Amino acid sequence: MEAFSQLVERAGLAFAQATTPAELEDAKAVFLGKSGELTAQMKLLGSLPVDEKKARGAEINAAKQQVETLLADRRQALAEAELALQLRAESLDVTLPGRRRGSGGLHPITRAMERIEAIFGSMGFDVADGPEIETDWFNFTALNTPADHPARSMHDTFYVEGGHVLRTHTSPMQIRYAVRHVKQHRHLLDAGLPMPEIRVIAPGRTYRVDSDATHSPMFHQFEGLWVGEAISFKDLKSVYLGFVRAFFESDDLRIRFRPSYFPFTEPSAEIDMMFGSGPMQGRWLEVSGSGQVHPQVIRNMGLDPERHIGFAFGSGIDRLAMLRYGVSDLRHFFDGDLRFLSQFK
Ligand code: DAH
Repeated sequence: MEAFSQLVERAGLAFAQATTPAELEDAKAVFLGKSGELTAQMKLLGSLPVDEKKARGAEINAAKQQVETLLADRRQALAEAELALQLRAESLDVTLPGRRRGSGGLHPITRAMERIEAIFGSMGFDVADGPEIETDWFNFTALNTPADHPARSMHDTFYVEGGHVLRTHTSPMQIRYAVRHVKQHRHLLDAGLPMPEIRVIAPGRTYRVDSDATHSPMFHQFEGLWVGEAISFKDLKSVYLGFVRAFFESDDLRIRFRPSYFPFTEPSAEIDMMFGSGPMQGRWLEVSGSGQVHPQVIRNMGLDPERHIGFAFGSGIDRLAMLRYGVSDLRHFFDGDLRFLSQFK
């Protein structure tokens, strides 16, 4: 009869040949299963004489334990191999070049605004911000444009619920800012003392019912206001010339004032500028409305037009950005096309 040591050896061999857990279970059945070899040996015990039974039983048990140990070892080996395989499949090749996240950039209009703020900031102008949904009073009436005023038809206004409008220009910020400034310094005015001058720009979004290559229903303006006791057109000219020269980084640039009409200024002027060189050289380009603040507007600010005088201007930011960056169609700014926008990173 085969010695138990040989049986154990065969079991070890069979287990080693199993390369998957399922094959290992099959191999186990051959030795330890219900009709396995060791089980059969156990069944035979009953037919042995009592004195042999004990020794034989001990031998079978020892063999069974050895087979079970071999089985457990093989199970573990297979599990480890499986894990190693899985780890290799999921491993990262850290030498691959990384996938980069695209870096963002500021929108060209935002860039233009920041330039404008920095330039006027350097000339002592405050920067103010205000609501885009505006009351009729601030957008029109306080700016000397009452309900029946013909100039109202100059603006194609978006009306919103409650009689409000989407502001058609940044000019309402003149009133909002001045009223706050005057309130803050009321005690000086009441005592007949000079008030610190109002010097502010207010950039932001504006809206009109208009859409083509040079007009968008949403566009950007910045308002400028300088009010004091002795402010004149001469100051307006030097400020505006200083601004365009800084904005376009060129001293080779001229501006001119062309008579115009706005209800909130008297006299009023369009500001044109001309490049002395480059592709736009020699053509007058309209860049801003401007004028001396109308006495009624000065009154609506809470000031006395006999004592306070000033100038204001309102310029299109999109237009300035188009000129600065050489963009021919305004709509590019608002289409959200990354091929266009990424050029400004
Ligand atoms: N608000 C005017 C517009 O949008 C522009 C303007 C003209 C603003 C003259 C001013 C100004 O401050 O003085 O057409």
